[in-house]
Formats: sequence, structure tokens, C-alpha cells
Amino acid sequence: MNKHKNAIILAIESSCDESAASIVTADPKTGRLQVLSNIISSQIAIHKKYGGVVPEIAAREHVLNLLPVINEALIKARIAPKDLTAIAVTKGPGLITSLIAGAETARALAFAWKKPLIEVNHIAGHIYANFINPVTPIKFPAVILTISGGHTILLIMKKSGKIKIIGETRDDAAGEAYDKASKMMGLGYPGGPIVSELAAEYGKKLTNLKLPRPMLNSPDFDFSFSGLKTALLYELKKDPNWKNRIPEYCSDYQQAIIDVLIHKTLKAALKFKTKTVMISGGVSANNELRAQMAKAVKTKTKNINFLIPAKDYTTDNAAMIAAAAFYKLKKNKLIDFKKLRVNASLELK
Ligand code: KG4
Ligand code: ZN
Repeated sequence: MNKHKNAIILAIESSCDESAASIVTADPKTGRLQVLSNIISSQIAIHKKYGGVVPEIAAREHVLNLLPVINEALIKARIAPKDLTAIAVTKGPGLITSLIAGAETARALAFAWKKPLIEVNHIAGHIYANFINPVTPIKFPAVILTISGGHTILLIMKKSGKIKIIGETRDDAAGEAYDKASKMMGLGYPGGPIVSELAAEYGKKLTNLKLPRPMLNSPDFDFSFSGLKTALLYELKKDPNWKNRIPEYCSDYQQAIIDVLIHKTLKAALKFKTKTVMISGGVSANNELRAQMAKAVKTKTKNINFLIPAKDYTTDNAAMIAAAAFYKLKKNKLIDFKKLRVNASLELK
């Protein structure tokens, strides 16, 4: 019998430019996670004018936003601080001053409310976003592609918590590739949603553009996106008419990213004989990637399940931090408020 069966967790996420808090509980009968509230205060409008996140401004905004966001999460979930089992907080990786704002808020609340803390790796959070209301039970081993603004990681999960990284980007992350292309074409920040919307506008029409698919056929599971960005720059420089062809450039650029992500993920699924393919992270919000990956898993593999988080749990949020915290709670990985340290390393537990 799991003594934490009726646990209620408050999670706090502030690793980049979203101040987020969530209350998550585990259904006492099924053990399934139930998100009671998931509040996000985005700073996108503030950072937009700089073309990217300004770390010091982000930290100052977190200091202002975190307590109101936490208060709203508690009110919406109808949970009082005394009902909480633990407070989970992102310990890294991320912008260090943003992480400190979240960690110090969590530390102060843990002290005031006499609650234990659970420190959660941000990437583990993205991975566990898939554990919130999965459409089918998760079968292991699973291959997981985590694609965000800062990371592109391919990993194998043998069972919950047992993770091995098999491939990573050697330079830019997939989300960064979207953001940099968008900046290059003067389209705005964050690039992912903008570039993908323009690509959708172009549709499935054929194009003469031939942007490279970097490392598509390399023998490993690594990625590289900085050459793709440079190739786009050269194509734009060569084309006096590029401003009238932006949707076409967005379409081919996005397809180059998607081709490589799908190819390497399926190659890993087949090599490691996984039963599940999952994607997660901000770029997994991308409609085209979601549809094409689902189709590829269905048509190119046999009996492999495909799981994606609901859109609310793809870009940064605190519900995913709570989901990862539940795994650590099961292992009794609770810490005292004095022990919490922000830590930008990529270890996953
Ligand atoms: O996971 P996330 O919210 O933050 C990090 O941990 O980095 O990911 C943010 C990244 C940004 O680079 C953003 O451009 C990208 O995810 N992104 C998208 C989409 N929505 C967000 N990329 C492609 N298509 C989208 N719809
Ligand atoms: Zn993230």
C-alpha cells in the first residue's frame, strides 16, 4: 500500500519566462494523476520587444508573479496550504536567476507551512508531462523525444524513472532553431508558433527549396540544427524575392526539422524494440509534428503506441513538474527546506 496515495502536490516552475503553479493529486482508486489547477503567467509580451528572453527581467517578473500565481492555483483547486503533502519546484536546468526566484519562493513556503520539498529536474518534468492522463497505459520500454527551446534529447525509459540518454543536439535545440529562423526573417518571438502558422498557411504545395536535413543519416541518435539555420540564411541572401515567399521558407524549414526528428525517433524505437514512442517539450506543441509523428509510428512500426502530452502540458507549465514529483514522492525523495539547491545540471533524478 502506497502511503502517499492521497497525496496533493503544489508545484512551482520558473526556469525561463513562465511563472507557473499547479496543484496535482493522485486519484486514490486508480493512482492516475488529476490536475486540479494549472496556472501560468507568461512573460512573452514583455520579452517580445527584445527578440528573446532577458534573464534579469525574467527573474524580476517571477518575483512579482509567483505568489499571485500560487495563490490562484490553490484557490482554483480549492486546496488550503495545510492540505498539501509536499511542495515541488524546478531546480534546473534553466536561467539561474529565474530558477532562484522559484526555489526561494518554494523554500519560504515550505518553511512557513512546515512542508517537505521535492526538487525536480525541468527535463524530467517535460518527460512526465506524458504521464498526465495518457490515452493508453504507458508500456515500457519507451523512447522519448524531448524538444524544447534549450534541449533536444532522445532517451530510452526502461521503466518509470529509469532513463538513459541515447542522443542529443550537438549545437542548437529544435526550439532554438525555430526561434532563430523567426528572428532572421523578422517574424517575432517565440518563433515556434509563428513559423509553424506560416508553414501551415503555405500548406502541402511543392517547393523548389532544398534546405538540408542535418545528420539525417548519421549512424548515431544525435541532432544538429545550427547548419540548417545557416543554410536558411544563405538561401534568403541569394533570393531577392524572399520576403514574398516567407510561408514557403517556413514550410521547408519546419519540414527539415520534422524529418530529422521523426527519422531518429523511429530508428531508436526499432533498434531498442520499444513499446511506446513519446514526445514532449515546447516543440511537441507543433501540430504538424504531432500529426506526422503519429502517422509515421502507425505506418512504419508494428504495435508501438504513440503518446503526446495535451497541448497545455507541452510548453513550460507546473503540472508537469508535479507529475515528475509524484514519481520522486513514491521513492520518498523529500527534502528539508535547508537542502534545496538550484542546479543547472542535466541529471534526471
Ligand atoms: O519547453 P518550452 O516551453 O521551454 C523550454 O524548456 O525551453 O519550449 C519553448 C520552445 C520555444 O523555442 C518555442 O519556439 C517552441 O518551444 N515552441 C514551438 C511551438 N510552440 C512552442 N515550436 C514549434 N511549434 C510550436 N507550435
Ligand atoms: Zn521547458
